[in-house]
Amino acid sequence: MVSGLTPNLRVHPDPHAVAAAAAESMTETIRVAVRGSGRAMIALSGGATPRLLYERLAAAHADAVPWRDVHLWWGDERYVPPHDARSNLRMARDALIDRVPIPPANLHPMPTTLPDPNAAARAYEQALENGFGTPLPRFDVVLLGLGGDGHTASLFPGSPALREMTRRVVATQAPSAPATRLTLTYPVLNNAASVQFVVTGTEKAPVLRRVLQQECTPDECPASGVRPSRGELIWWLDAAAYDAAAYPQQAG
Ligand code: 6PG
Repeated sequence: MVSGLTPNLRVHPDPHAVAAAAAESMTETIRVAVRGSGRAMIALSGGATPRLLYERLAAAHADAVPWRDVHLWWGDERYVPPHDARSNLRMARDALIDRVPIPPANLHPMPTTLPDPNAAARAYEQALENGFGTPLPRFDVVLLGLGGDGHTASLFPGSPALREMTRRVVATQAPSAPATRLTLTYPVLNNAASVQFVVTGTEKAPVLRRVLQQECTPDECPASGVRPSRGELIWWLDAAAYDAAAYPQQAG
């Protein structure tokens, strides 16, 4: 099997079971990373789906995770103030960060208060290089979601960001508000040791099927361009999404 090209599907009955299993797995992955390198470098996903996972990590694994050695980064961010209800940082704070003993110095949110989002993207590239000590970061885990249009992080269909093979972070325009976003690019996503999608709900089944069946190009479904070259690709799915994707003829 070529790493990253054959997805590892982990299907659980419902979103809570997905969150429990993914949290358990992430806890072990973090512990292994810390044992190996002294730290765990995690890129968080935004949107609504991962909230249950973050809450589970905080509730069931607050003591098992060596939070003092965990560094939280973001895969993408809406270009809104940190306290804005649409902020991915705000969601992670509410669901995870404010509930675990992670040192503030280990939090690396994307900057969203500079006048120029392009300058913010460049600032985050510098933060990544400072944090990882190398121009191209290799995350221990990158968490990702899947949008109904096939986007992931803030890589949207048809975006010039999909062709960006040098920059590590870029400012992009989303088709939905808030339009301006910051996102990691494919070179960073595909350099990760572990990329883990969390996708739940029947509404994601059509695009999930297209991505898993490799029926759409990265330009059409940016999630299909996520192929870690030296890492694992895991899909955490609930039965609603998987069954409707795998057996669409039986879907209601
Ligand atoms: C964001 C996310 C985005 C998200 C998908 C799925 O900033 O919104 O990074 O890529 O993962 O849009 O969102 P839901 O989990 O809310 O369906």
